[in-house]
Parts: sequence; structure tokens; C-alpha cells
Amino acid sequence: MTAPVVRPMREEDVEDLAELTATSYFEVDARTYQRAWPDPVRRPAGRNAHWIRRTKRALVTDPGGCWVAEADGEVVGGAVSRVRELMWILASFAVRPDLQGRGIGAQLMAAAMQHGRGCLRGMFSASADPGAVRRYRLAGFDLHPQMLLTGVVDRSAIPVVDRVREGTAADLELMDSVDRRTRGAAHLGDHELLLEQFRLVVTDHSTGSGYAYVEADGAPVLLAATNRRTAARLMWEALASSQPGAEISVHHITAANAWALDVGLAARMAIHQSGYLCVRRMKPPAPYLHHGSLL
Ligand SMILES: CC(C)(COP(=O)(O)OP(=O)(O)OC[C@H]1O[C@@H](n2cnc3c(N)ncnc32)[C@H](O)[C@@H]1OP(=O)(O)O)[C@@H](O)C(=O)NCCC(=O)NCCS
Repeated sequence: MTAPVVRPMREEDVEDLAELTATSYFEVDARTYQRAWPDPVRRPAGRNAHWIRRTKRALVTDPGGCWVAEADGEVVGGAVSRVRELMWILASFAVRPDLQGRGIGAQLMAAAMQHGRGCLRGMFSASADPGAVRRYRLAGFDLHPQMLLTGVVDRSAIPVVDRVREGTAADLELMDSVDRRTRGAAHLGDHELLLEQFRLVVTDHSTGSGYAYVEADGAPVLLAATNRRTAARLMWEALASSQPGAEISVHHITAANAWALDVGLAARMAIHQSGYLCVRRMKPPAPYLHHGSLL
């Protein structure tokens, strides 16, 4: 094999990189999986299509943040990053499993970080892969362990949640304001992608404002609020939409968001730990549950 070359990503690379990231993440999930967890699954077709849409969008909004490594005409690694209001966000980072540990990841990371050179703050969600974690700490990020909740929601524990309504594109300014307050940067155009994929619920009241994007199975995948009480109400609204008897998982809960653990425990879900929220020059956002790649 010729030495891999790191170059800017092109649209025709995106499907190959989707395959590669699905394989590399599944391999690391299988390697770091704990027996009490649901079995790891390779990214299913529906989620893969969203990955491709998100990454093609990143190529338009952040061409300087998207890089691949190529060897013998094949994509063997890639990194996708975005800048949103002076915050650098790493969305995807992977090298083909048989080529890991040879320095390709370090080169991709350096290229992607160049895109965020004007940003003090940075954040991304990391797997528990020891090589990845080593890279991130050496790049100067603080590592905050992430917890997750799994289980079947106890229907009898669900409280009455009032003043929460379905959200629309008309709520973008409200959501950007809440994001600036909680994580220090708005999601801007990323809401278009989120609105396509998830149910949006919003609350805007004198006692607190916030929003949550909710997966079809009832798991909140991005949640931000101006106070913990409002955040907990939004999380209950999400959990209430889970199917009776169906197991769900709520990911990306840092120690700064113990309110989410309390909701999960009241719903009789179990706490586990997986991977890290990596941040630079900022605290883990709260009250906030981050999205895995749009954060
Ligand atoms: C993370 C990843 C992209 C890094 O790419 P890579 O080409 O392997 O990275 P590099 O070879 O440049 O560096 C890996 C570093 O981890 C170290 N490393 C590798 N395996 C390790 C292990 N099991 N324990 C500790 N360190 C390890 C390497 O020695 C190297 O450190 P060094 O440069 O100081 O010697 C790649 O390993 C990967 O695809 N992992 C699986 C997917 C994943 O977890 N992605 C991150 C999602 S957040």
C-alpha cells in the first residue's frame, strides 16, 4: 500500500466514508462493550442515510473542516468538523481498523483542528477507544465521562407535563438563544437537519424555556433548557412517547446533568457509563443533553 495522503473531502467520498465510519465505530463498540448493555449494532440503513445527509451538508457549510485519508485510490480514514459561532465541533473521526495506530488519525485530527484555529472553545463526544482518547487528551481536551440510561420507562412514574408544545422552524430563534446560554454557541442551520429527522418539543414560559429533539422511540437526542426543572419536564415529555414495554437508551449525560439521571431513575431506568464528552476552554453544558455529532 502506498503511504496515505490526507486531502480535503469531496462529495464523492461521503458514501465511502459512511461505510468506513460505520465499520470502525461498530468495531470499537464491539471491543469496548459491557455485558449489561444492549448488543452493539452496526449503523442501520436509515441512520446511515442521515449520516450521509449531515456530512454532505457539512461539506457545504464547513468545507475546510472535512478531510479524508486516501491510499491506493481508496478512502481509509476521515474527519468531519464544523465551526458554529466560534465553537469547533468534531462530528466524525475514524481510520480503517486494519490501518489504525500508524499516525493517520493524528494527521486527520491536525487538519480538522486547523479549521477551528480561530475558536477558543471546542466540544465533541468520544468513544471509549483508548487510542482515540489518547489523541484527544494530547490535543488538549478535558475528558468528562458520559453516562447513559437504559430500560423500559415505568408508565406509572410519568408526571403530567403541561406547557410543552410541538415545535417548528418558527422556534429557531428561541432555540438559538437557549443554545447560546447553555453551550455558548447556537446550532444555526443544523436545526434544518434535526427537524427532518426528529420530533421537536418546545416550552417557552416565564418559569423557563427550552427544547428537545426526540427519537421515534422516545429518547431525547438533543435537549437544552434555561433551568433544570424545565429540562426535566422536556425529558419526561420525551420518555412519555416511548412505546409501553419497549427498551430505550438515553445517551450523553455528563455529571453536570444529574437532573437527567434523576428523571431516568424515577422512570426506573439503569445508569451505565460510556465514552467522554471532550471540551476545550468551556465547562460541560448544562442543563443540556448533547447530540452525538452536532453536539
Ligand atoms: C481514533 C482513530 C481515528 C485514531 O486513528 P489512528 O490512525 O489509529 O491514530 P494514530 O495512529 O494517529 O494515533 C493513535 C494513538 O493512540 C495510541 N493507541 C492505539 N491503540 C491504543 C490502545 N489500545 N491504548 C492506548 N493507546 C493506543 C497510539 O499509540 C497513538 O498514540 P501515539 O501517537 O502517541 O503513539 C482510530 O483509532 C479509530 O478509527 N478508532 C475507532 C473509531 C473511533 O473510536 N473513533 C473516534 C470516535 S470519537
